[in-house]
Amino acid sequence: MALDRKTTPNDLNAFWMPFTANRQFKKNPRMFVGAKDMHYTTADGRQVLDGTAGLWCCNAGHCRPKITEAIARQAAELDYAPAFQMGHPAAFELANRLIEIAPKGIEHVFYTNSGSESVETALKLAIAYHRARGEGARTRLIGRERGYHGVNFGGISVGGIVTNRKVFGSLLTGVDHMPHTHLPALNAFTKGQPEHGANLADELERIVTLHGAETIAAVIVEPMAGSTGVLLPPKGYLERLRAITKKHGILLIFDEVITGFGRLGSAFASQHYDVLPDMMTTAKGLTNGVIPMGAVLTTAEIHDAFMTGPENMIELFHGYTYSGNPIASAAGIATLEVYKEEGLFARAAEMAPYWQEAIHSLRGLPHVIDIRNEGLIGAVELQGIDGAPTKRAFEAFLRAYEKGILIRTTGDIIAMSPPLIISKAEIDTLIGTLANVLKTLP
Ligand SMILES: Cc1ncc(COP(=O)(O)O)c(C=O)c1O
Repeated sequence: MALDRKTTPNDLNAFWMPFTANRQFKKNPRMFVGAKDMHYTTADGRQVLDGTAGLWCCNAGHCRPKITEAIARQAAELDYAPAFQMGHPAAFELANRLIEIAPKGIEHVFYTNSGSESVETALKLAIAYHRARGEGARTRLIGRERGYHGVNFGGISVGGIVTNRKVFGSLLTGVDHMPHTHLPALNAFTKGQPEHGANLADELERIVTLHGAETIAAVIVEPMAGSTGVLLPPKGYLERLRAITKKHGILLIFDEVITGFGRLGSAFASQHYDVLPDMMTTAKGLTNGVIPMGAVLTTAEIHDAFMTGPENMIELFHGYTYSGNPIASAAGIATLEVYKEEGLFARAAEMAPYWQEAIHSLRGLPHVIDIRNEGLIGAVELQGIDGAPTKRAFEAFLRAYEKGILIRTTGDIIAMSPPLIISKAEIDTLIGTLANVLKTLP
């Protein structure tokens, strides 16, 4: 008899799951079989409130008809068109719409299929851009401790999450890191951007002095670091980074894979913090997480530096088979329409104060050593169990799932980033359930 693929787990052995405790999972699998708006449906028929927008990506909630219908229509009309030397209208249309919502000064879009690929693309663009302008010695890349820029070699090289780097060899050469901005002794339980730490941007000056500005291509940071456990930029920090990079002719790349598409209450963090980078990497919310797609957004200055030489020549030897894929493009257009029609970026901003008070109400519960928030994102940092790092937060995650909420943990930090359609009542459910979980944790 054929298995009911929708609800019956088959043999779980073959699938090597990413960023997952495979052996733990396969002993007691957590399977989603459906989703609608704010909820997932589990294989055993329970509703789970999505406190994480999938993986920080389903900003408009789940199975939105406008998006799923656009995908079906596009798949039936033009399933695939070669990405190189051929075009199709949806990719151009989506690029134009992205530029409409991007900060002024950002004018071009290069498509990828993920956040990781967007990062690799931006790093390559930075180095090639300087070379195109006759500054070929600018090859160094500067990232930041605790940064997450996906999992490819460039991304883990500039990234600063130790577990994601240390077993993968020597990585890219010519990379340096600024210090992270997590200063719990000074900033714990801050609502919104912390007061202390802008001076950490000056570490970039030290790195510039060490290597020479003429060897540095770009600095890449998440304007708000999500995956490492929601670290907000201290007040004035991003402004200083921008000033220092500009002074030294270094490109500034904002990795907006999480912060893009409304998470902080504006289309991009760049607008929220009013700091304009030279490039922005995006993915996730670009298609509401439904179809893999990423995009690097750049200034005209970067793009135009490549538009030289004979017109029959390829200007940039980079791209992916699925860059600007028709179905992903259709999903992207429909997603941006949903965001616009429902005013979801503004909604995130409107809900942010309620979210802030709700999440900070967890202060004082057992093990809670810090709470951080901005827009519709927040984190609750727990005191780890001595000798068993990550165990307490992982236990919270498992218990939360059993109680009907999806949260995410990294180290001993619980991170939440609900779809931007979340209601006040659903915020109450999410935070109230988490409070009950925290009270029972070992
Ligand atoms: C800031 C940032 N950059 C890059 C990535 C990688 O994206 P992907 O998993 O789509 O490759 C992520 C994923 O969480 C991210 O948060």
